[in-house]
Amino acid sequence: MTEKNPKTLQFVSDNEADTIRLGEALAAAFQPGCVVALLGNLGAGKTRLVQAIANALGIDREDVTSPTFVLIQEYDGNLPIFHFDAYRLRDSDQFLELGADELMASQGICLIEWAERVGDVLPDDLLRIEIEIEGPTRRLFRLSGSGPKSNEVVQQLAEFHLD
Ligand SMILES: Nc1ncnc2c1ncn2[C@@H]1O[C@H](COP(=O)(O)OP(=O)(O)O)[C@@H](O)[C@H]1O
Ligand SMILES: [Mg+2]
Repeated sequence: MTEKNPKTLQFVSDNEADTIRLGEALAAAFQPGCVVALLGNLGAGKTRLVQAIANALGIDREDVTSPTFVLIQEYDGNLPIFHFDAYRLRDSDQFLELGADELMASQGICLIEWAERVGDVLPDDLLRIEIEIEGPTRRLFRLSGSGPKSNEVVQQLAEFHLD
């Protein structure tokens, strides 16, 4: 049961190419309205994963930069992508002032770096992606779902292997 219906998955990325493949698999598994919390220290690979996802959804990698200064970026991919960086946000209210509520309820994909900073206003159905730095190019990705949409993504990734 747990193996056929996992709610948490781990992937070890040995290099950036692995992370790109993970991003591609995620892009293929997303359905409209997915909200993704990206958690992990500076340099963990949150932006790099967003680039890979956006790329797989038809956006040029160069167009995807960290939204640290603009706070939110929108990409018109096969699905609309809303890329947030909560690092410089004052609080959850400022996140909501950016229109986050509407965007998280839309048919787009919301990818939120430093999501723990706005954790109190994130939806119940949230795909959490925690990234740990394990070495210069080695990263541990932990995916977990908490509702129908996010669990479905985790479910789809269950057969995916990086090695
Ligand atoms: N396996 C890997 N996956 C993702 N990024 C990696 C990996 N190995 C090394 N890196 C490097 O780690 C850095 C990640 O940066 P970035 O994605 O901006 O982090 P964050 O957005 O989490 O602060 C990049 O310089 C990237 O080249
Ligand atoms: Mg970043």
